[in-house]
Amino acid sequence: MSKLTFSTSSRPDPLADEARLAILDDPGFGVTMTDHMVRIEWTREGGWSNGELLPYGPISIEPAAGVFHYGQEIFEGLKAFRHSDGSVWCFRPEVNGARLQRSAKRLALPELDIDDFIESLKVLVSADEKWVPEFGTGETSLYLRPFMIASEAFLGVRPANGVTYFVIASPAGAYFSGGIKPVSLWLSTDYARAGDGGTGAAKCGGNYASSLAGQVEAAEHGCEQVVFLDSSTHTYIEELGGMNLFLVYADGRLVTPELTGSILEGVTRSSILELATDLGLRPEERRIPIQEWKDGVASGEITEVFACGTAAVVTPVGTLKWDGGESTVGTEAGETTMKIRQSLLDIQYGKADDTRGWMTRLV
Ligand code: COI
Repeated sequence: MSKLTFSTSSRPDPLADEARLAILDDPGFGVTMTDHMVRIEWTREGGWSNGELLPYGPISIEPAAGVFHYGQEIFEGLKAFRHSDGSVWCFRPEVNGARLQRSAKRLALPELDIDDFIESLKVLVSADEKWVPEFGTGETSLYLRPFMIASEAFLGVRPANGVTYFVIASPAGAYFSGGIKPVSLWLSTDYARAGDGGTGAAKCGGNYASSLAGQVEAAEHGCEQVVFLDSSTHTYIEELGGMNLFLVYADGRLVTPELTGSILEGVTRSSILELATDLGLRPEERRIPIQEWKDGVASGEITEVFACGTAAVVTPVGTLKWDGGESTVGTEAGETTMKIRQSLLDIQYGKADDTRGWMTRLV
């Protein structure tokens, strides 16, 4: 049980129903924020104080705050799903809460109790429940973005003595517009996302900032996403800018890069590894040389590739491009990719039995 209490200061002017419903009709991804947000302050002397539910809006923070200078910041991404009886549920929030703690440790930020983390989601989603899209409206949900920043104003380089945790929310449709069609990936050879001993396994803004130059390069080559290799040998597949990757083999193997310390331990990734055996697949976590992808597609041994993440769910990959070549595994979403995607979505929207106890009711 959470030890924190939350004070409430409701927004006097929440968005009118008509305007909100128009947004929920076609929310896109990450465009509109809901009416409220949650904030919890931490100090080194006092620990976490009680939380607040506030109107969503600009925050006042000193320009000398550590987050602006040394990037001491971490975040999470989760979704709230409406079920057919109107209730609202979250997928494995305790796993996100545990990852936020690991990220906090790596970035020298304070750990938030998992119960307090889940309570912060409940407080926000209860206040903004009307922003959770209706059941049966496709791949729609309320995307939740908890994050923690160094808010102490101090220019010396050391862990901040004052930290602020927030949760904001945004109604979400598909991350990639244009329906479920294979995306193309650019193989980055000039850039790496993370290195040995670095912050690759933490969900911190810096990792995403470091992926952006590769993402720009991908767009210049007509690709939607970038795929990074390991930083020391430039041989093994790691992950995309914000998603994990799986290869499907003709013989039923489902292979994903093993967690070497520089790859994010995606909640969707680990859930797919658990679901795979139920679906008759043989999951494997190991190092995958990029050449294995190119050769496997050419020989027909690799039949499908997909990306996964909370935002992307399960997104088919079609073409891999690199300097001097390309390889296309498929021009339509593959059968195995769609089967995995559907079994995940069925659990999340309450259409399939939650035999593993993955869902937590928020409202
Ligand atoms: C998520 O999938 O929740 C992420 O944080 C990644 C980002 C591409 C939105």
